[in-house]
Amino acid sequence: KPLVFSGVQPTGNLHLGNYLGAIRRFVALQGSHDCIYCVVDLHAITQWQEPAELMKATREVTAAFLAAGIDPKKHIVFNQSRVMQHAELAWVFNCVARMGWLSRMTQFKEKAGKDRENASVGLFAYPTLMAADILVYRATHVPVGDDQKQHLELTRDIAQKFNNDFSDRIADLGLGIEMKVGEEKVNGFFPLTEPLIEGPAPRVMSLRDGLKKMSKSDPSDLSRINLTDDADAISKKIRKAKTDPAGLPSEIEGLKDRPEAENLVVLYAALAEISKEKVLAEFGGQQFSAFKPALADLAVTKLAPIAAEMRRISSDENYVDGVLRDGGERAGVMAEANMKMVRDIVGLLQS
Ligand code: TYM
Repeated sequence: KPLVFSGVQPTGNLHLGNYLGAIRRFVALQGSHDCIYCVVDLHAITQWQEPAELMKATREVTAAFLAAGIDPKKHIVFNQSRVMQHAELAWVFNCVARMGWLSRMTQFKEKAGKDRENASVGLFAYPTLMAADILVYRATHVPVGDDQKQHLELTRDIAQKFNNDFSDRIADLGLGIEMKVGEEKVNGFFPLTEPLIEGPAPRVMSLRDGLKKMSKSDPSDLSRINLTDDADAISKKIRKAKTDPAGLPSEIEGLKDRPEAENLVVLYAALAEISKEKVLAEFGGQQFSAFKPALADLAVTKLAPIAAEMRRISSDENYVDGVLRDGGERAGVMAEANMKMVRDIVGLLQS
């Protein structure tokens, strides 16, 4: 049975990339799938966080999920640290994954920088915890932005190696599910999860540099539109967004090698839920000085209600904590049922 899982880190500012690349798609999947959406606080602490800030950010991401339209009664919303089976399965996966696999992760290389000796062991092992998040529920589909692609490939590699390392045991216990690997039908315990990297904006770029992705950690606040930005801030950031001297082309080909122009057109298309062609049919031939105010108005119209709803929800801390508690309990039951089988498969004596 298809099951959706995804996570968002409670670090810093949620931005338009998080919304268009992930959260808005979380909302859309609710009609067709059972969904589990997680605020991944254990991932956040792979780099030091001010404890009070971490709690605040955990509640804020939760409020963003709810404000965007995720229904915590029909689906599950919780913070990762409440369900310790994530960490337990991550340990098992630390023993399945190979050092070489993790050493190739570009996110680790970027975040650790030059001083790799000084990066936390948790930052190195980050992807095994992410695989555990997904596979502790045996989730089949994971909606994410483009930057998480490599981590999801690793998740499949880990699932496959686990299924392979313990294939006899899985068969003896009758715990396998049939799945296809290429053309071959195999029996495994963990599904080979499918990344859902789709929608109009899987990779929103920085407003200051069209070759860098929009990111929570960019030191320039002008590089991103935060979900909590007010109308003035949104307008100012779009007005100051980097562009090239040419105006908007009438054809898609005219955006080639113009990453900043392309990004603004993508943002308009994604926010208006129309195609890029349609945006260019409307604005082709115009200057950015005419297009930017239209984009700013659109962004404000779409984001202001979410920001207002986030503020309303955030003002009721008890409600937010109640959602996380309830979600954590329901997630915990599912995770424990799978972990019992994992312990049995691996040979961790429980009786
Ligand atoms: P995080 O917290 O960095 O980002 C949350 C989601 O937002 C997407 N995203 C973007 N999409 C489009 N354009 C951008 N500029 C942009 N920036 C971020 C991310 O791809 C992500 O979908 N490792 C994950 C969190 C995680 C997770 C998981 C995700 C932990 N466990 C299990 C899925 C399944 C992360 O750091 O996302």
